[in-house]
Amino acid sequence: MKNVLVTGGAGFIGSNFVRYLLQREPDVKVVTLDLLTYAGKMENLEDLPRPENHVFVQGDICNRELVDQLLAENAIDTIVHFAAESHVDRSILGPMPFIQTNIIGTFTLLEAAKNAWKDKPGEFRFHHISTDEVFGALQSGDPAFEEGTPYNPHSPYSASKASSDHLVRAYYSTYNLPITISNCSNNYGPYQFPEKLIPLMILNGITGKPLPVYGKGEQIRDWLHVMDHCEAIYLILKKGKIGETYCIGGDNQPTNLEIVQLICEILDDKVPRADGKSHTSQIQYVSDRPGHDFRYDINTNKIQRELGWKPAHALRTGLEETIEWYLNHSAWVDSVLDKDEFSSWINTNYQERDY
Ligand code: NAD
Ligand code: DAU
Repeated sequence: MKNVLVTGGAGFIGSNFVRYLLQREPDVKVVTLDLLTYAGKMENLEDLPRPENHVFVQGDICNRELVDQLLAENAIDTIVHFAAESHVDRSILGPMPFIQTNIIGTFTLLEAAKNAWKDKPGEFRFHHISTDEVFGALQSGDPAFEEGTPYNPHSPYSASKASSDHLVRAYYSTYNLPITISNCSNNYGPYQFPEKLIPLMILNGITGKPLPVYGKGEQIRDWLHVMDHCEAIYLILKKGKIGETYCIGGDNQPTNLEIVQLICEILDDKVPRADGKSHTSQIQYVSDRPGHDFRYDINTNKIQRELGWKPAHALRTGLEETIEWYLNHSAWVDSVLDKDEFSSWINTNYQERDY
């Protein structure tokens, strides 16, 4: 691993990974390719360690000419592919960008990688970042998802990610392209765009706005701190077996309501409301997400056994640190909340979203 192309490196997980990799590997050069959609922000890449080893390129992963040029000019030997449309609610309201970026974009990268890899057999890696949502939904008592669980995606987002996973595997089976895939559960931590549950609840909590809980808040997600995800990806790049898939998760199972209540409890301690009430008084039950997956749970035995990975962050301390981060980064928060596109999206009344 000498020259790494990180797609989607200005987004939430990608920017944490770029920071992690530059710190961990002093001699590695990182090229970030990111379109800077509503979710990508240059502010996420401020204060990088060893900035002289990092190059940022604004561009589309669907642009084959650009991708070919970047792979050749930078002698890329490793692609870590994060770029995607990532928000389930947006995929329900408008699936087209998900089909374009997640499927056509991944296909474009695979074609370019196959072409570049011809000149570097044995020294190349295409690592595809995917999600546990490709496996569908569990009911109470079902065994956790694992690497061999059949795919059963429900939302346009998860169907587009499933499609991209299949393409990546097809390039291994058909062309021997040296790939690895990881399917991870819900991430939280610094730099997460506040359309997702945890940062939305933190920021709405601090500013006294409603905390919109879908349905009765009974759905269950498996939460993982983003730095634990970055560590897992790094270990897969260093020690993972070509052609293999690794499931990654945090091994905790709160309901959505429980996690919102935990955030409120931490906020009550750190930033008490002026009226003395708990932040739980801001919770509002709103229309449920159509096709809302009930439960995710992920079995991480394989990555623990084969690569020696396990998550370092407990949920409560990870959340406390994350809340501190949002409290201490008001300039970042302001720059996000200033964006018109975000304001119009988030201000859409949950009861009236025209699904
Ligand atoms: P994000 O939405 O925060 O970031 C996505 C990034 O991709 C943005 O910077 C955006 O500008 C960029 N991008 C979008 N379309 C692009 C295009 N056509 N060309 C180039 N760049 C483009 O997403 P995230 O939460 O950081 O997720 C990153 C990856 O991890 C995604 O593939 C997602 O499916 C996967 N994943 C996310 C989670 C999670 O909890 N957030 C969990 C498991 C897997
Ligand atoms: O499981 C991995 C996936 O996790 C990733 O692949 C996706 O990119 C990522 O967005 C995330 O998907 P979710 O749909 O699970 O995340 P989200 O934060 O949108 O929602 C988490 C849960 O909280 C979900 O059950 C819906 C609920 N929710 C969400 C929001 C935004 C609410 O109750 N209220 C809300 O306002």
